[in-house]
Amino acid sequence: MEKGVVFKNICKKHGSSIALANVSFSIEKGEFFSILGPSGCGKTTLLRILAGFDHPDSGQIFLDGVDITSLPPNRRPINTVFQNYALFPHLTIWENIAFGLRIAKHPESFIKSEVERMLHLIQMPEHAHKMPDHISGGQKQRVAIARALVNHPQVLLLDEPLAALDLKLRQKMLIDLDNIHDEVGITFIFVTHDQTEAMSVSDRIAVLHKGRLEQIGSPMQIYEAPESHFVADFIGDTNFLDGHVTQKMEGYSVLKLKNFPDIICYNDKQLAVEDLVHLSVRPEKIHISRQKPEIIPFLNVFEGEVDEVIYKGDHTHFGVLVGSHKISLTKQHRHFLLDETTIQWKDQVWIWWHADDGFILQSNGGEFDGR
Ligand SMILES: Nc1ncnc2c1ncn2[C@@H]1O[C@H](COP(=O)(O)OP(=O)(O)OP(=O)(O)O)[C@@H](O)[C@H]1O
Ligand SMILES: [Mg+2]
Repeated sequence: MEKGVVFKNICKKHGSSIALANVSFSIEKGEFFSILGPSGCGKTTLLRILAGFDHPDSGQIFLDGVDITSLPPNRRPINTVFQNYALFPHLTIWENIAFGLRIAKHPESFIKSEVERMLHLIQMPEHAHKMPDHISGGQKQRVAIARALVNHPQVLLLDEPLAALDLKLRQKMLIDLDNIHDEVGITFIFVTHDQTEAMSVSDRIAVLHKGRLEQIGSPMQIYEAPESHFVADFIGDTNFLDGHVTQKMEGYSVLKLKNFPDIICYNDKQLAVEDLVHLSVRPEKIHISRQKPEIIPFLNVFEGEVDEVIYKGDHTHFGVLVGSHKISLTKQHRHFLLDETTIQWKDQVWIWWHADDGFILQSNGGEFDGR
C-alpha cells in the first residue's frame, strides 16, 4: 500500500513538558485511521503538527512522499474538523459549505454543483437554507465535515468530532462518517479518547500514551494482542494476573502466581523459566457454571465463590474469588433469563478458560505484583 502520511521522529515540548517523544509511524492513503489515547497524551498536538498549526521541535512529516514539515497550513491539502463545529453563525448552511470555494474564487456554477454534491453526501439538502442555530448538534457536525471536504483535501483530520453529542447520536454519526469515508475515499485521521469509537470504524489504530506510540494495529490486533500492560488496560476490560514462568512446553508455559492455582497459557513470547509476566484474560473469554466442566488439556479450571453480580441486561458481570484474586467475567444472556436458574452472590462456581484465550505480556517488574 502507498504511504499517505508519514511521521518521522516527531518531538514536541510545550514549555518543559514533553507532548510528543520521538513519534514515528505511517498512515496509508485512503485509510480510516484513529489516534487513541487518554487525555493529555499528545493527540491534538500531533494533529496540529500535521495540519501545520504547530511546529515540531524536531522530526519530519511527509505527505505522499513529499516533506511538508515547513509548509504553512494553507499550502497543505489537509483540512480539520474540530469538536465545536466552528460554523459561521451568520451564514446559511449552504453558504457555510460554499465558503472555502468562494475564497478560492471558483465560478458560481462550479460552487453550486460542489455544494449540492456535499449536501447530498451529508444527506442534508433540505436544510441548505437554514442558519446553524436552527439545526441539531449532529447536523452541525455533518455540515462541518462537508465544509472541510468541499475543496477536495487529501487528508481529513477529525479531532474528537463527536465529543459534544449524546451516545445514540455518536453511534449514528460514526456510521455516517464511515459511509462518507467510503464515498470520498481519502485518508481520514480520527482522534478520540473513546476506544469503542476507534474500534468500530478504524482500519488501524495508533495508541498514544504520554507522548509515545504504544502500539499500532488493526482493532482486532490491539484488542486481542496488546503489546503492553497499558494497551491491554486502556482498551476494553481485562484481568491482570501477575506471575512467573515455572515450566515451558512447545508454545505454552505454566505460570505460578501468589495465592492462585497454576495457570497454563499460550506463550508466543519466547519467555524463559523464571521470567516475570502479566497474564491478561478478557472477561468475556472466561466461562462460569455451578457444574464442574469436563477437564481437557489446556483448559484452566478453577473453583471459586461469587463475590459480585451486576445484571446488565444483555449480560451479567460476575466477580469470582479464586484464592486471593477476584476474577471479572461476563456471561451473555442468550436465553430468556427468567427461565434459567441464575448464578447468585456467594454461590460456589467453576470458572474456566482455554490456555489460548489468555495473553502474556512480559513484565519489566514496574507494575508487578506476582511474587
Ligand atoms: N499550548 C500548550 N501549552 C502548554 N502545554 C500544552 C499546550 N498544548 C498542550 N499542552 C500539553 O501537552 C500535552 C499534550 O496535549 P494534547 O492537547 O496534545 O493532548 P490530547 O491527547 O489532545 O488530550 P485531550 O484528550 O484532553 O484533548 C498535555 O500535557 C498538555 O497539557
Ligand atoms: Mg485533544
